[in-house]
Amino acid sequence: MSDRYAVFGNPIGHSKSPRIHAAFAEQTGQAMRYEAIEAPVEDFAGAWQAFVAAGGRGANVTVPFKQEAFALAEVLSPRARLAGAVNTLQVGDDGRLYGDTTDGVGLVRDLQAHASPLAGARVLILGAGGAVRGVIEPLLEAGVGSVVIANRTVARAEALAALFAERGDVRGCGFAEVSGPFELVVNGTSASLAGDLPPLPDDVFADRALAYDMMYAAEPTVFLRWAAERGARTVDGLGMLIEQAAESFLLWRGVRPETAPLREALRREL
Ligand code: ATR
Repeated sequence: MSDRYAVFGNPIGHSKSPRIHAAFAEQTGQAMRYEAIEAPVEDFAGAWQAFVAAGGRGANVTVPFKQEAFALAEVLSPRARLAGAVNTLQVGDDGRLYGDTTDGVGLVRDLQAHASPLAGARVLILGAGGAVRGVIEPLLEAGVGSVVIANRTVARAEALAALFAERGDVRGCGFAEVSGPFELVVNGTSASLAGDLPPLPDDVFADRALAYDMMYAAEPTVFLRWAAERGARTVDGLGMLIEQAAESFLLWRGVRPETAPLREALRREL
């Protein structure tokens, strides 16, 4: 019998995770199944317990259950604790439930794959929600020089920055206070979904800066189009999705899959 894994979300119909993990399993010769499970919004814990009772070994967790997975995990990795969220669950050999998050390291690996400046870089992050909280520590660990978190609701940016104040040069502010230049600008708002653009000054980008949108779509997002017009290199979040999946796969199976072949295949399928 092959080991059973899943992604839990609601909705989950459009998730690419089953496609990604099936490709990883085939590439590495791992005997495993990976399915998409739409848990009821009000009963993630129940859905998880049913999955484990049926032999489930581990799972990815996506919107809106990352905080509930965090609460459910019996052993949290340091990075999950800092992120306040869990996207990877695993039933340990000791029977305990382990929670980790691979989103932030997924972003950093994708940035490295695109030769983004990281060491000493001035970084601007747009947004202060759950998606952003998970990426700050991995960016600091990768050696960035400073992080400015700009958000529509300024108090949220300031509160988030305060969580990381002892770990590095991290400040929170509103969009109106942003003053560049930055070598890396990451859009972690959900504004792209509505076709909105955070109001930013024209001079946010340093020479050869990289603009990264944590969202992805068949067409460049509004933010990436705006950034390209101002001379920045642009990258969307498809690679982050693949890299976070590879990190989860590594945690479960002890093997790191190659991500490059899948990047091209998934891009063509968008
Ligand atoms: P997630 O967990 O995906 O980060 P979230 O916690 O709801 O989701 O956060 C969404 C982020 O997108 C927030 O930073 C939000 O700004 P507010 O904190 O001010 O709500 C930001 N956001 C959403 N729509 C936006 C828009 N149209 N313009 C600018 N920022 C937007």
